[in-house]
Amino acid sequence: MSALSERPADAVVGTAVPHESAVLHVTGTALYTDDLVHRTKDVLHAHPVQVPHAHARVRDLRTGPALRVPGVVRVLTAADVPGVNDAGVKHDEPLFPDEVMFHGHAVCWVLGETLEAARLGAAAVEVDVEPLPSLVSIRDAVEAGSFQGGQPTVRRGDVEAGLDASAHVFSGEFEFSGQEHFYLETHCALASVDESGQVFVQSSTQHPSETQEIVAHVLGLSNSEVTVQCLRMGGGFGGKEMQPHGLAAVAALGATLTGRPVRLRLDRTQDMTMTGKRHGFHARWRVGFDEDGRLQALDATLTSDGGWSLDLSEPVLARALCHVDNAYWIPHVRVNGRIARTHKTSQTAFRGFGGPQGMLVIEDVLGRCAPLLGLDAATLRQRNLYTAGRTTPYGQPVRHPERLARAWQQVLDSADFAARSAQVAAFNDASPHTKRGLAITPVKFGISFNLTAFNQGGALVHVYKDGSVLVNHGGTEMGQGLHTKMLQVAATTLGVPLGRVRLAPTRTDKVPNTSATAASSGADLNGAAVKNACEQIRGRLAQVAAERLGVAPADVRFTGGVVRGIAFASEQVPWEEVVRLAYFQRVQLSAAGFYRTEGLHWDSAAMQGEPFKYFSYGVAAAEVEVDGFTGAYTLRRADLVHDVGDSLSPLVDIGQIEGGFVQGVGWLTLEDLRWDESDGPGRGRLTTASASTYKLPSFSEVPEVLNVGLLADAAEEGAVYGSKAVGEPPLMLAFSVREALRQAAAAFGPPGTSVDLASPATPEAVFWALERARCTEGAHVDEGAPGVRPDQPDPGAPAVRPYSEQVQHVLSRT
Ligand code: MTE
Ligand code: MOS
Repeated sequence: MSALSERPADAVVGTAVPHESAVLHVTGTALYTDDLVHRTKDVLHAHPVQVPHAHARVRDLRTGPALRVPGVVRVLTAADVPGVNDAGVKHDEPLFPDEVMFHGHAVCWVLGETLEAARLGAAAVEVDVEPLPSLVSIRDAVEAGSFQGGQPTVRRGDVEAGLDASAHVFSGEFEFSGQEHFYLETHCALASVDESGQVFVQSSTQHPSETQEIVAHVLGLSNSEVTVQCLRMGGGFGGKEMQPHGLAAVAALGATLTGRPVRLRLDRTQDMTMTGKRHGFHARWRVGFDEDGRLQALDATLTSDGGWSLDLSEPVLARALCHVDNAYWIPHVRVNGRIARTHKTSQTAFRGFGGPQGMLVIEDVLGRCAPLLGLDAATLRQRNLYTAGRTTPYGQPVRHPERLARAWQQVLDSADFAARSAQVAAFNDASPHTKRGLAITPVKFGISFNLTAFNQGGALVHVYKDGSVLVNHGGTEMGQGLHTKMLQVAATTLGVPLGRVRLAPTRTDKVPNTSATAASSGADLNGAAVKNACEQIRGRLAQVAAERLGVAPADVRFTGGVVRGIAFASEQVPWEEVVRLAYFQRVQLSAAGFYRTEGLHWDSAAMQGEPFKYFSYGVAAAEVEVDGFTGAYTLRRADLVHDVGDSLSPLVDIGQIEGGFVQGVGWLTLEDLRWDESDGPGRGRLTTASASTYKLPSFSEVPEVLNVGLLADAAEEGAVYGSKAVGEPPLMLAFSVREALRQAAAAFGPPGTSVDLASPATPEAVFWALERARCTEGAHVDEGAPGVRPDQPDPGAPAVRPYSEQVQHVLSRT
């Protein structure tokens, strides 16, 4: 055990405590940024002027009519920007653009005494535009050669030789959708300026330090003149990693120009039409297997739909390429990546950050190829899992692959997989119109930021004279329970009860130069920094206590709020007493903690290195039932086993696993982002811009039986108190549901039917998939079966029917 991972016997970490704000959440008393508006005097409200064109040049912008609207105070335009008119870190995102780059792009903002005044003012602004040709779909962009950013390749071995030597080679294509974050709290910023010109922005941001930097560069100020605070977020899911910056800058600009606080909160439709989403991807692939179904070679090109600007598209793509292997050993690999530039919102981070997209490709490949190889999918997957001594295609050794095998076995056992597979087969034999599927899929997910520099964390811990403790750290709370874990870490390190420790909101003037709370690394980075700060204080207090107890400082123990010597018979001094003594001896009771993850290196040009501190593992089994008349389905049961190391906070971790899984099920089966791809006047419009048209998973999609297990004996040597990150990886356990749907659809066809399933696998998509399975040559078509219902296509027609373009994939033996 390393000093970082070693856990004391009576640790507060590892105890099952509720989320630190659970009571506030459920009673409605938790404060979010927008709640502060009602506590702030003289607030102005900001409203965007969104232009309804996918692509257009702004010829003229007349703000005069808006200023005549009662209650309108000011219109913010590019001319008002004292610094850099750009909202991003890539300098490709003008904050006040003169070219409309997507349907709903905001070209200026109106400030009003009330939100209603600002809204009416925004409606009165006159914008003359010259429409320009637009690229809406990923296919449009590929055809037009419209790409942005780098085009990296991960390679190992000799793909052509590997394919040549393979017993079976298949090729195919797959296009799949992105995902709307749909955090309950939409984007929000509240900015004010003090008497010295210091700008204070409260923002729903996962990355306060970067929000601070962007606000500063827009205003032409130094970073020290801007402070950003994040109380908490009502969900971020990656959507608040980069997207809050420009919105915070607009509020801050308004505040500096008017001298009054400015509030900017997007309503749901604005949030959905203006801010970025998970990237949809297109993949083209060739894959080779040996006689036994062992992967030999993978050649693939992944194209992500980046939207109008780069934002985080490059690192998202890098993570996709680094996860295309998921949990499988592939000797020869060549995966190219590129980012399409389309006239859509700028797609961004979303839980998994490209990892899910890369992994979905290989899971789709295996799900489609298993029947063609004459293997059941579970066998094919298990046979290809990483084993000892293997490295990833980018050169990182896969440590602890036995955990993958253990998790796999644990799911087989706890889900009673073999017996239930037989039951599913028997059910399907007896049931012509309803079929079931049971699938098992693995997850391997790399933890750390690919960009090595981001792997640092900071904390500031104060112990007050009365022994109470206040913790600040660089991470933000978005519901994931980071603050709960940090309280537990501080209490463990200082050896005090949890109730002695309090946490202060995240602010850039307490802990500077922080990384985004992202890549699931919040607890790893900030936890190690909190621990470091607490250890400094504990070390100083040990000197004081040693003198008081008459023992050596190394023999002083802090536990449960008392300080004592190592001997069983030692006197016990209350923590408060030691703190008081230290104060009178003028011993510093405050410390800044810091942590950098050791051992990481990454060459982003060569796409080689060891970018991850460790891998998180998980395995899931899911069972579904599909109705052959409609494609409607239910998720009957899911069994999840996930590796969280030695959990810092088991209730929090289980909540993350459940939530991540359901969010993944949403992405893969329900949530269907549609843009108007027609040439009509609405071209480029997001047609699913509200909860009525964009279907989210809710209570009713949670499986009737949902078993979540934490992998036992899984302490992680390299992370704080032996824990592992949890935030993102469980989302990918949802592959099991998609694969179960594929298997259920296949059951409508003859044995060995390979099913090509669209993503999201909505009931409609499942219907078309099972319809094609039913019509596969050799299929047993029951007279009077659903395929011949009068309103359905004739089953005698060609096997491949026209269906939604997005599911037109080709799978062929080459
Ligand atoms: N859980 C909740 N409840 N809300 C969120 O917004 N974001 C996810 C995950 N879990 C999120 C969540 C994402 S995208 C990440 S990267 C991690 O939490 C970030 O927090 P962590 O690093 O503390 O795990
Ligand atoms: Mo999470 S997508 O890394 O914010």
